[in-house]
Amino acid sequence: MKVLLINSSPRGTGNTSVALQEMEKIFREEGIETEMIHIGNKDIRGCIACGKCGQTGKCVFDDMVNEVAPKFESCDGIVFGSPVYYASPNATLIAFLDRLFYSTHFDKRMKVGACVCSARRGGTTATFDVINKYFTISGMPVASGQYWNSVHGGAPGEASKDEEGLQNMRVIARNMSFLMKSIALGKEKYGLPEVEPHAWTNFIR
Ligand SMILES: Cc1cc2nc3c(=O)[nH]c(=O)nc-3n(C[C@H](O)[C@H](O)[C@H](O)COP(=O)(O)O)c2cc1C
Repeated sequence: MKVLLINSSPRGTGNTSVALQEMEKIFREEGIETEMIHIGNKDIRGCIACGKCGQTGKCVFDDMVNEVAPKFESCDGIVFGSPVYYASPNATLIAFLDRLFYSTHFDKRMKVGACVCSARRGGTTATFDVINKYFTISGMPVASGQYWNSVHGGAPGEASKDEEGLQNMRVIARNMSFLMKSIALGKEKYGLPEVEPHAWTNFIR
């Protein structure tokens, strides 16, 4: 059983990393393998809507997106951590997620998702909403905690003083571990839910 933790902050040891590491400790205690991937220091551009991925199943820009895609395919859960920039996930994460979710066609259903938002002060719930939309369009259950998934801090590392935020990270990680283990048992017993052919209507007909 494996979880990927993706950090989109340009700071490898900033507040997003503090939150992700707090979750990582719990995953390890739960016997779940982890891989932390830092994408925030990479040059990741946005989607150009070329549609090539429709034929190839991968993005025309051969960068972190194509590198992470096979790891995403084989993992049981994934956590996206972002600093809040102007009350949204940072541009790096949005570019990464648009291309990762659009270009990959493997079955993402029942992989558990969670997000972590780190902010000095405001915009965390708006950021939380944006990230959760990638999970919930993909049949991915979302692990929740005892508050919305955020830690607070301005200067790098300041989030380590956010006692309530870090406790919530541990709770989310425990809940996520439980969900992944339960889903693994459920898959064995019942298999994945039936899939209907997708009806595409574009709102006009
Ligand atoms: C371009 C930019 C925009 C930011 N916008 C916000 C914001 O909207 N709300 C907020 O509370 N903090 C904002 N911040 C502060 C960061 O979200 C905060 O310092 C965060 O903890 C950084 O996480 P990191 O250390 O993992 O990079 C902004 C920082 C930058 C560089």
